[in-house]
Amino acid sequence: MTDVQAIINKMTLEEKAALCTGASAWSTTPVHRVNLPELIVSDGPHGIRRQPNIFAMTQKSLPATCFPTASSLASTWDPDLLHEMGQALAEEAIALKVDIILGPGANMKRTPLCGRNFEYFSEDPYLAGQMAASLINGIQSKGVGTSLKHFAANNQEFERFAISAEIDERTLREIYLPAFETAVTQAKPWTVMCAYNKINGTYASEHYRLLTEILKNEWGFEGFVVSDWGAVHDRVASLRAGLDLEMPGPKQTRVNAIIEAVRNGDLDEAILDEAARRIVRVALMAAQKPKGGTFDAAAHHTLARKMAAEGMVLLKNNGLLPLQAPDHIAVIGRAAKEAHFQGGGSSHINPTQVDVPFTELQKLAENTEFSFALGYPEGKCFEQSLIDEAVSAAQVANVALIFIALPGFKESEGYDRTDLDLTEHQVALIQAVTAVQPNTVVILNNGAPIVVRDWIEGTAAVLEAWMMGQAGGGAIADILFGRTNPCGKLAETYPMKLSDTPAHLNFPGENGSVRYGEGLFIGYRYYDTKEIPVAFPFGYGLSYTQFAYSNPQASAAIFNDSEGVTVSVDVTNTGHMAGKEIVQVYVHDQESRLIRPFKELKGFAKVHLEPGETKTITISLDFRAFAYYDPAHQQWVTEDGQFDILFGTSSADIRCSTTVTLHSTLLLPSVLHRESTIRAWLDDPRGKAAFEPMYQQLIAQTNRVFSDSETIGMDSASFLLDMPLLSILHFQEGNLTQPADDIVDQLLEQVRTDRF
Ligand code: BGC
Repeated sequence: MTDVQAIINKMTLEEKAALCTGASAWSTTPVHRVNLPELIVSDGPHGIRRQPNIFAMTQKSLPATCFPTASSLASTWDPDLLHEMGQALAEEAIALKVDIILGPGANMKRTPLCGRNFEYFSEDPYLAGQMAASLINGIQSKGVGTSLKHFAANNQEFERFAISAEIDERTLREIYLPAFETAVTQAKPWTVMCAYNKINGTYASEHYRLLTEILKNEWGFEGFVVSDWGAVHDRVASLRAGLDLEMPGPKQTRVNAIIEAVRNGDLDEAILDEAARRIVRVALMAAQKPKGGTFDAAAHHTLARKMAAEGMVLLKNNGLLPLQAPDHIAVIGRAAKEAHFQGGGSSHINPTQVDVPFTELQKLAENTEFSFALGYPEGKCFEQSLIDEAVSAAQVANVALIFIALPGFKESEGYDRTDLDLTEHQVALIQAVTAVQPNTVVILNNGAPIVVRDWIEGTAAVLEAWMMGQAGGGAIADILFGRTNPCGKLAETYPMKLSDTPAHLNFPGENGSVRYGEGLFIGYRYYDTKEIPVAFPFGYGLSYTQFAYSNPQASAAIFNDSEGVTVSVDVTNTGHMAGKEIVQVYVHDQESRLIRPFKELKGFAKVHLEPGETKTITISLDFRAFAYYDPAHQQWVTEDGQFDILFGTSSADIRCSTTVTLHSTLLLPSVLHRESTIRAWLDDPRGKAAFEPMYQQLIAQTNRVFSDSETIGMDSASFLLDMPLLSILHFQEGNLTQPADDIVDQLLEQVRTDRF
């Protein structure tokens, strides 16, 4: 018998019920009688927010390194770097006596308006899944646990505690679940945190299909499911659904409810045992790693600087950057002196130190004169004098650097954004400064896309620095002065305007529910397929050097879906500076039975190249790279056919491609039924084979009917396509030797037996 089971066997009903409910805001219930220690948890995700008093929800936390937030992390497209950051996070967790870090978040960026997008990775599930898995693997490699959150479909803050996300099965499977699936299957997080919201009418905390059938049974999740803080409504129903631990505690009423439900037969004790077993297992894993000690704050700050630089995205550059030590730089904007490096809410870290951008710039350009103007106020008011002061400063300098931070009232956990704009004041500031100073660089600190069309034209360069973590100030200086060649690429699209965004007509919802009417088509899947121009596409980012792509190859021209195929491309640095390129591989299905996005990201690689150097990038594409989820079959399916493999430097800049032919090895039961139309019979290969002879007769008969009667201007073959076979046969009942229903049933039987 395992240790875990032995402990469960010794525990009383009361102890097991207590174990499944938190003991404090940040700890689980220890069971001293059986030597089971408590677990200490802490937010997350980009630093440790360890509360000194575990009964306090929001005290100033103990100092810890504030790394860049997820928008920035995803823009690195660098799983190895996230692994390294994960290890650093774990070291801090150990020092701060934390067993489980509450993160990362793997929710999709359905709309750039979601206030919490800064904590999420991407609009693309493949990229988000790779990032989440690497971070988890990094953290857990050091014996510290994670909590992958918020499962699932927590894609907005508006009414986040109760709103029902109405999502069809295919969209859930292809867009909202895969990042979680990848993280669970590739990184085995110790815990998964369920979301606050409902999915199709059922709270995530009570969603049996989601928590038990999909997460635990289908994906093989072995850890425990913890509620988001306050996400539980009916404790017994949530236990039955697969929610193992309720947080926060203490909550004696919940413990009593569980005990009573077992006693009166409402809850099978085996369900409670299973929840307790999962928690005990993780508690024993955590206990293997002694906690306490110190961490190397200086080394982690250096890592945070490197990560911030790798995540920054150069959006525009007319050649001004990198700066060649100008005589005089006017630094404008309060964010240059008050670094804006993280977002509001549960992820807010108390940093060990903060790099001030202004100071970091001075350090790298000792012979340059720097002046400073505040530029814009902290709040919502408009102060023309600040703009005038900035214009005067810019006029006498060789270069102006405007630091623009999106204020907390526009972007945070807890509320969504109402627009994608900078403040009116910030827009006026940029317009006024660029009118007098052509050498103006705008540096942005925000967690999600903004609209740039009102102010970008007069700028010389724009750097998206994100919520860049505590060392971001130094990273900005590194990039502006060319100590680091920018290499970050957008993990989300920058739209031209809010009304272009995919969820625009279905956000934020009404009467308690939000309909995901855009379905699969979020992010570039939408803009691409609808051919809507964007400001900056998914996957975009400039470098100080250039890259050329050549020699696209596939390991086989024809392959079986079960084997997959390996593709490769050569990338050359054709410029004069060493740099990194992020090569993206998209798959385009030439033809499919169900509608698909024009193309989807299925692989990527980041490669360092010296000037003139060429490297071959090789990427494996497996079954899932070609499959879609077919709700009719309730499984991932592939179809025979041709797929274009597109190698891009962004989603909008495909440099070369190759075409491969997939042979599907799936044997799927037919989806034909009594109401199937002629079109459906013809689309189904075996249906077509069985039905073809009858089809020719039907066309002939219909031709006769139409020509016997008055001309009605119809093409009979086209007319038949959308009619159910059964209905057509009913029309012709008089000519049939058998009842129409029997004829269709016999055909259906033939199709079924033909297949298996
Ligand atoms: C947030 C979680 C967080 C938890 C604990 C919740 O409000 O949604 O992400 O981990 O609080 O702070």
